[in-house]
Amino acid sequence: MTQNRISTDVNEASRVLLSGGIIGMPTETVYGLAACALDHSAVARVFAVKSRPMHHPLIVHLSPETDVSKWGIMTTNAQRLANAFWPGPLTLLVKRTDLVPDWVTGGRDTVALRVPSHPVAIELLRLADTGIVAPSANKFGKVSPTTAEHVRQDLGDDVDLILDGGACAVGIESTIVECIGDSVSILRPGAVTAEEIQEVLKTQPSNGKGVSRAPGMMLSHYSPNADVILVDNLDEARELKARLERDEATVCIVFHEDTDQYARELYDDLRNADRLGVQTVVAVLPPASGVGAAVRDRLAKAATR
Ligand code: TXA
Ligand code: MG
Repeated sequence: MTQNRISTDVNEASRVLLSGGIIGMPTETVYGLAACALDHSAVARVFAVKSRPMHHPLIVHLSPETDVSKWGIMTTNAQRLANAFWPGPLTLLVKRTDLVPDWVTGGRDTVALRVPSHPVAIELLRLADTGIVAPSANKFGKVSPTTAEHVRQDLGDDVDLILDGGACAVGIESTIVECIGDSVSILRPGAVTAEEIQEVLKTQPSNGKGVSRAPGMMLSHYSPNADVILVDNLDEARELKARLERDEATVCIVFHEDTDQYARELYDDLRNADRLGVQTVVAVLPPASGVGAAVRDRLAKAATR
């Protein structure tokens, strides 16, 4: 097979997956490193290529037509959230069924499920007609990819194919919500916001961040090579940049007025800073409303060493 190929051929991508291959796949959030969930050796390759610890569980992606109850035990709250936000940037953490192998969940009794909304992802999931695991297609601990080219830069020849679905519309990883029994906790903020979840459930979800219920959400994640310093507004950013540059440092500012655009472009901004060899990124925190809360979360992680 020709290696390191970026393609728009969904049929071929599905054939590669079903014959045991691993591919870069587009979703509306970030690009994933995809393998058939029930294929042990393909999933093992995903862990190896990402340099990801084996006990970090993977999200299973399903097509909109899949009977979710084959994979997870949907609580009433989980079902309500699925009805409201699937297909979309929401991952539900629920008790797993016997179908779900230990190599997907790291031996846990829960499974993370997501029905993405990217049309190419949906087409691929329909063609493959099985659950597809897809962690973000970056090396462990690094910034997630939001274009096919990012995946090529990070994983290159280690994947059998990169399916190109254009730049990701959301740009940061899905919201992860744990729904076990009656309790609902947000483990990772994303484009589906706490306010929207509360609106659907008529009850406030708790904040499970910081608890090690979702391994891989440690603080030092999502880090570029450059140092990241967070400030509250653009004036402060300009002042700091000028001050650092007087000491010969190379500095760039990351800021977008529009918060959706901030989410969409953040990882590309951080990658560009590294490509240019910038020493310090001064990032302006967006307001915490809407997807701003998730952008702030990723910026805080990018700023942690
Ligand atoms: O937007 C996204 O969610 C992207 C796209 C490709 O779908 N995927 C993604 O996957 O961000 P990943 O593996 O980079 O992040 C998933 C997080 C990890 O921190 C993992 O530990 C957690 O979800 N997770 C998955 N299954 C879990 C489980 N059974 N229990 C606890 N945490 C789980
Ligand atoms: Mg990731």
